[in-house]
Formats: sequence, structure tokens, C-alpha cells
Amino acid sequence: MSVLVLGGAGYIGSHMVKQLLADGQEVVVVDNLVKGHRAAVDSRAKFYEVDLRDKAALSAVFEQEQIEAVVHFAAFSIVPESVAEPLKYFDNNTAGMVTLLEVMNEHDVKQIVFSSTAATYGNPVHIPIKETDPQNPINPYGESKLMMEKMMAWADQAYGIKWVALRYFNVAGAIEDGSIGEDHEPETHLVPIILQAAAGKRPYIEMFGDDYQTPDGFNVRDYVHVMDLTAAHLLALNYLKEGHDSAAFNLGSATGFSVKEMVAAAREATGVDIQAKVGPRRAGDPDILVADSTAAREVLGWQPQFDNVADIIKTAWHWVEMHPNGYED
Ligand code: UFG
Repeated sequence: MSVLVLGGAGYIGSHMVKQLLADGQEVVVVDNLVKGHRAAVDSRAKFYEVDLRDKAALSAVFEQEQIEAVVHFAAFSIVPESVAEPLKYFDNNTAGMVTLLEVMNEHDVKQIVFSSTAATYGNPVHIPIKETDPQNPINPYGESKLMMEKMMAWADQAYGIKWVALRYFNVAGAIEDGSIGEDHEPETHLVPIILQAAAGKRPYIEMFGDDYQTPDGFNVRDYVHVMDLTAAHLLALNYLKEGHDSAAFNLGSATGFSVKEMVAAAREATGVDIQAKVGPRRAGDPDILVADSTAAREVLGWQPQFDNVADIIKTAWHWVEMHPNGYED
């Protein structure tokens, strides 16, 4: 029996593939390679270049392989792009989930672990955010993922498809051997952009806004290491295998760092005097997003190994030093 990783050629998905292989599991990857990199997929996994909205092609994979459970990372995830092009997000993310759940049901595959997001909460009502807090997304990306969570809940009721939604906060870092890492085109995420400045690929990092309601005025996020994140997916798969009920869990470290603190941590991690400038705010950025991940720790038994952002950044820097041009090398 195999675990199917949808979006397994992407940043987080490719780390999940490594995590599953290290756990001794058989892995099948489906990715349309629109964002993913073929070279990111470990050669021990079986690879299909398929778009999950292509029902016939996806069904063929389920017919070919003995799939036990699905881990679903295949989605667009850039907030400002989603505001400009909402239908792209509802098509790829939300409509893609319709096809996936149909195919799963038709092939009697009843377990799914799903990449959800802190963006489903919108502006938090209190910090740290709990799973039971209201979900009122403020951008189409968050809305598309909330709709996907709701679709899974109804599919559970109708067909008994059990799900775990993992609501990620800010994911960063790379596997410690530096074999795979974060490589987006265009890059919009903070840590890789800071490291581009460290590597001399851009003259400085622009820090978006210094007038937020936070101690130093820069907005605060909760950074979690990608291998800790994928470890939580492994625990979620086991949780479903043990027959537990569907559930949602936040994945974060419970500690917030401001953009300015992240730049300081990156200077420490790289030893480079990274230049930073203050720029205008970016649209749609809440002041603070910090997770309460108590439930993941207590129910899933999740124990993140990285509790220091400089250590997280060091692993990302190792990947950058080993692959200065990302997957182009
Ligand atoms: N930032 C900068 N300069 C940059 C890039 C980012 O100052 O060049 C700041 C942002 O304003 C924000 C922080 O760095 O305060 C993190 O920004 P990212 O773009 O790295 O991440 P986001 O917090 O916007 O979004 C991420 C994921 C989303 C997810 C969200 C949930 O990309 O998919 O976390 O917390 F929904």
C-alpha cells in the first residue's frame, strides 16, 4: 500500500516524500509541475505528471496504484495573487478538491491529510489562535482553503472520508542534508528573500511596514520548520489509520518573530551583514499571526525539534549554499 502525495514536487510536498520514505512507506507522487520541480522528487517515489483536476488521469493513478491514504499539498498559495486572480484559486484549489474527493470515494480511499492554512482565520480575534476560533478569511486564498475544509467535512458525513486539516502558519527551512529546499518563481516568502539578499542576489530585503501594532512595529509571524511540519503529517496519517475522527490542528511554534527579528536571526545564521530597508505595507497582512498548537502536541503527540528561528534559517541557508540557482543546478 502507498501514500499518495499530491503536490509532492513542491516545497513542502517534496519534504513530505522524504519523511514518508524515512518512515519506510511506499510513496506515489502526483504533481502537474506548474509550481513543482521534478528534481525535488526523491527517486524512490513513483511519479505521475498529472493535474488533479484531470479526473480521468487522476483515476488512472488510483487504478494503477494501491493507495491507502492521500496527503494533499497541491494548491496555489500566494495571498496577493489570490486577491488579483481569485478564480484561479477557486479553480485549482477548491474545484480540484471536488475531483479529488470524487476519485477517492470511487476508489474507496477514505483518509486524507490536507494542507490548510492560518489564512482561513482572517484577522484573528485573539492571539495565540486556537482551532475553535472563528474562520473568516480576508483573501481568496484563505477562502479557497476554508471551502476545501468544509467540503471534506460534508464528504465525511456522506461517504465516510476521514480527514485531518493541518492549518500551517509560516513554514521555513529545508531538510538538513540540503538536498531539497524552497525554490519558488517568483519568490514571495520572507526567509528565501532574506537569503537571496545574503547570497548577493538582491541588494537588500525590503521589510513591508514598520507601523504595525507590535512591539517593534514590524509584523509578527510564527515560523515552523518544514521537517517538523511534515512530521506532523506523518502523525496525522497514523491518527487516521487508528480510526480517529476527522479534525483540524494548527501547526506553529507558538512563538512570534517580527520581520526585523527574522532579519537579525538570518544575519546570525549566515554570518552575512544582510542589508534591510523599510518599505510600505503589503496589502492584506495582519499585524500578528501566532498559533496555539497545543492540540497537535496533545492529540497527535507532535514534538517540533526546531524551536529557534536562527536554526531554522541555517537549514534554509545550507540549501541555498548547496544550490545557489535552486533546482536549475
Ligand atoms: N515580508 C517582508 N518582505 C518580503 C516578504 C515578506 O517584509 O520581501 C513580510 C510579510 O509582510 C510578512 C512576513 O514577512 O509579515 C511573512 O511573509 P510571507 O510572504 O513569507 O508569508 P505570509 O505570512 O504572507 O504567508 C504565509 C504563507 C501563506 C499562509 C500564511 C499563514 O505563504 O500561504 O503564511 O500565516 F497563509
